[in-house]
Amino acid sequence: MVSRVIPVDTFDLVIFGVTGDLARRKILPGLFRRFVMQQAPKDSRIIGAARSEMTQDEFAALVRSAIEEFVPGAADKKKDLDEFLKVLRYVSIDASGDKGWRALNGHLRPDVVRAFYLSVSPSIFGAIAANLSTRGLATPESRIVVEKPFGRDLATAKALNADLRGSFEESQIYRIDHYLGKETVQNLMALRFANALWEPLWNSTHIDHVQITVAERLGVAGRGAYYDKSGAMRDMVQNHLMQLLCLTAMEPPSRFDPNAVRDEKVKVIEALEPVRAADLVRGQYRAGQGDASYAAHSENPATTTESYIAMKVNVANWRWSGTPFYLRTGKKLRARTSEIAIQFRNPPHMMFPDMARQKGNALIIRLQPDEGITLRTTIKEPGPGGMRLAEASLDMTFAEALGPGMDTQDAYERLIMDVIRGNQTLFMRGDEVEAAWAWADPIISEWTEAGNKPSAYDPGSSGPEDALMLMHRDGRRWREIET
Ligand code: BG6
Repeated sequence: MVSRVIPVDTFDLVIFGVTGDLARRKILPGLFRRFVMQQAPKDSRIIGAARSEMTQDEFAALVRSAIEEFVPGAADKKKDLDEFLKVLRYVSIDASGDKGWRALNGHLRPDVVRAFYLSVSPSIFGAIAANLSTRGLATPESRIVVEKPFGRDLATAKALNADLRGSFEESQIYRIDHYLGKETVQNLMALRFANALWEPLWNSTHIDHVQITVAERLGVAGRGAYYDKSGAMRDMVQNHLMQLLCLTAMEPPSRFDPNAVRDEKVKVIEALEPVRAADLVRGQYRAGQGDASYAAHSENPATTTESYIAMKVNVANWRWSGTPFYLRTGKKLRARTSEIAIQFRNPPHMMFPDMARQKGNALIIRLQPDEGITLRTTIKEPGPGGMRLAEASLDMTFAEALGPGMDTQDAYERLIMDVIRGNQTLFMRGDEVEAAWAWADPIISEWTEAGNKPSAYDPGSSGPEDALMLMHRDGRRWREIET
């Protein structure tokens, strides 16, 4: 299947913090791919803004090296790259002072879509937003894009929201959670709401429990200072896993429209019960397999920040009461794998002798890598020997189902195109972020006040032993984190 590319309108996109890591790794390579695909019109402009003094040529050289490093096959697209460099401009700017704003204004055109991407520390979101507004660079149709971390608790998230809303309307603010830009995460909505098959089963009458796993092989090397102030709860659960939980648990929205979808997600977050200390396990990887320990990357050798977290979460509403959601995420685990596993209840009557030994039906939505869906079923084991049962799967890998032309876009590039289109469906609304912090804050405070120390686990393992107990005591078990 070859993907259809629908061009967006011509735009002027300003990237603040253009010399930073995110811009080099994700934003600029993503934009380059969209220009090559001819989705982004060639008369658009990308205006890099950062503190450093740089000539246009120096900036072009910097972008060229980023593309060559992070876009596979870019070396064979020399002509495309030369074309792409022509849409670039650079302005050296002082986020909270006077320098550069007039020059930036000079690059912006009155009649094209205007977007400002703040790939900078949240501490200067407010200053940039205020400058854009008071100096007249932001029009009522302009969009502003911000990245996580969006606060570190409810109070800081509220302050950031207030900073942005001081200069922009909520309808102009695009808060990125890149998990929402992943193909399979959106497929979760298609699977649930474009098929009649699942909805009658999608509730606590038929579903025993749900497991959401985001396992990473990488550790925190190079990001120790940021991560140590954050930990897995703030870095992954409050945002990425929360989004996966919301999309799995939410009621069908009446329309595929930004506010209808986000209203339903907020209702899920508001229905979450507080997580009891007994339902939560924190872990920290120790040294092993030639790798340094987590603590070795921290400025504090006695750090108690968690690089792993597992918890049991209850969604207290009519649909889900009695069906727990088990979430886990961690660094330096056995494999990089993200999935949502829906475990169905057993048939009400065990007619076959060896039924009790079967794992039962499960729908596994693989988010990455090897994106696809598996439905685990029970069948008769073929051959003689009586009525014995076996497990077999209906397996669909998107790459196989959709063929080699499948669009392999990165989450960021899809999200940037949505900003240009003015579609906020895949972005977090301010109240959604605040609701997620309102849920996370007491959980974090409880373990902080109790002086909870994370359990050690080996690099390359599935996490700490006590995380296994979290499920065993409920008569359930985690799925293997497969390599
Ligand atoms: C980021 C976190 O938001 O997501 C990282 O800050 C994490 O710690 C990353 O590694 C995971 O993203 P992905 O797309 O690789 O699953």
